[in-house]
Amino acid sequence: MLAHGKAFAAGGWRPRSGRAPQRRDVHSPAVIHPGRFLYCRTAAGRAEKELYCEAVPLGRLAARYGTPLYVYSATAIRERLGAFDAAFRGIPHTLCYSVKANSSLAVLRLIARAGHGFDVVSGGELERVLRAAPRAAGKTVFSGVGKSREEMALALRRGIRLFNVESASELSTLGEVCARLGRVAPISIRVNPDLPANTHPYISTGLHRHKFGVPIPEAEQLYREAARNPQLRVCGVSVHIGSQISDLRPFRAAMERVAALVRRLRGAGLEISCVDAGGGLAIPYSGARNDFRARFAAYARAVVHPLRGLGVHLVLEPGRAIVGPAGALLTRVLYRKTNHGKRFLIVDAAMNDLLRPALYGAQHEVVPVSLASGASGSERTDVVGPICESGDFLARGIELPAIPEGALLAILEAGAYAASLGSNYNSRGKPPEVLVEGKSARLVRRRQSTADQMRLESF
Ligand code: LLP
Repeated sequence: MLAHGKAFAAGGWRPRSGRAPQRRDVHSPAVIHPGRFLYCRTAAGRAEKELYCEAVPLGRLAARYGTPLYVYSATAIRERLGAFDAAFRGIPHTLCYSVKANSSLAVLRLIARAGHGFDVVSGGELERVLRAAPRAAGKTVFSGVGKSREEMALALRRGIRLFNVESASELSTLGEVCARLGRVAPISIRVNPDLPANTHPYISTGLHRHKFGVPIPEAEQLYREAARNPQLRVCGVSVHIGSQISDLRPFRAAMERVAALVRRLRGAGLEISCVDAGGGLAIPYSGARNDFRARFAAYARAVVHPLRGLGVHLVLEPGRAIVGPAGALLTRVLYRKTNHGKRFLIVDAAMNDLLRPALYGAQHEVVPVSLASGASGSERTDVVGPICESGDFLARGIELPAIPEGALLAILEAGAYAASLGSNYNSRGKPPEVLVEGKSARLVRRRQSTADQMRLESF
């Protein structure tokens, strides 16, 4: 697989210790997990421990809703939103959660109710946002390299906060759509700062060879054009250099270029009141995960420092950092199998439910839902799905305690780019989604049946 940064480093089952969480009866070999997945004893005196999401045992959810199943912690999402927001308290800002990371209506509603806005990249995402939060358009920015006229019209009619424009052609098309509708579009130009971000090449977006954004010199020209067009209102400058970026220096470097551009544009008489810093902050997929507040704060310093003295309103578009650790994908072991000495656990989740390992070589930690305490020994295994491709793996060469057929596994950090990146490949129905809060668990998406899948077809 392609080279990638530390954040994709090896995962796998690895006992860890840590500060005792809230429950007295918790022994936590795996995690005090910021996504609120933690092991608890199932009953006093029982040797077995079970993985919980908040106060709900995952085994109970699997029995009730079947597997595969996505489970999200509402508390973790709220906690992370709060921490991210707090990290930027020193500067006027709007947190516009990037809907592509997890576009479930229940998640969107939770985020809207916490007072935040959204970053959308399609008419579909915008409609989801408006369904979950009908008044959210004024806090929603519209990004993306290929907005259609219909999508522009929808966003204009609903009063979108900002269009992040990515090319000269898009700018003139937006001007035309505005003229036809008699509207004025608030715009910023997404610049391409030509900076490496040290992440997986598929999700790095800030280099000149990528399709995203406009080179800075060209953007200056475009701003002048936009300023002459009465259908467009120039508001800001936008940038987004990629995703799953753990080294903070590229964020800072990008903002330095943006800040310099803001100064030049203001010097040329343009009113630039906002800067959209995009998203992209990495989360750890293994190892210690508890320092997310410190990580958010360090990220905020990297982004905000270059903007000192500019008096801009900052827009932030985090996705993964908000929802990634707050979700897990539950799956059941169908079969154990050994081929020429190589061990496989064949599970009922597959690459259509979690594409990240196959597409980016991402390594999600896979843990047993039930853990016999004192169990020793582990075996090296691949965790694979039922799909007819050798690329259908969820984890490769990981160490797990011996997992019997019928047992449950949880794939961690599956709150972002899991369900939203899912497909119906092999005519597999999309899994249900459950939102947990404290002791309560709410089914927020039911399992897609084959009839649901075929509903739009005819023959
Ligand atoms: N803003 C823009 C314009 C974006 O393109 C993205 C992500 C974000 C914000 C949010 O980035 P985040 O904070 O989540 O890193 N499917 C890939 C990730 C693709 C990211 C695409 N753009 C994965 O599973 O790693």
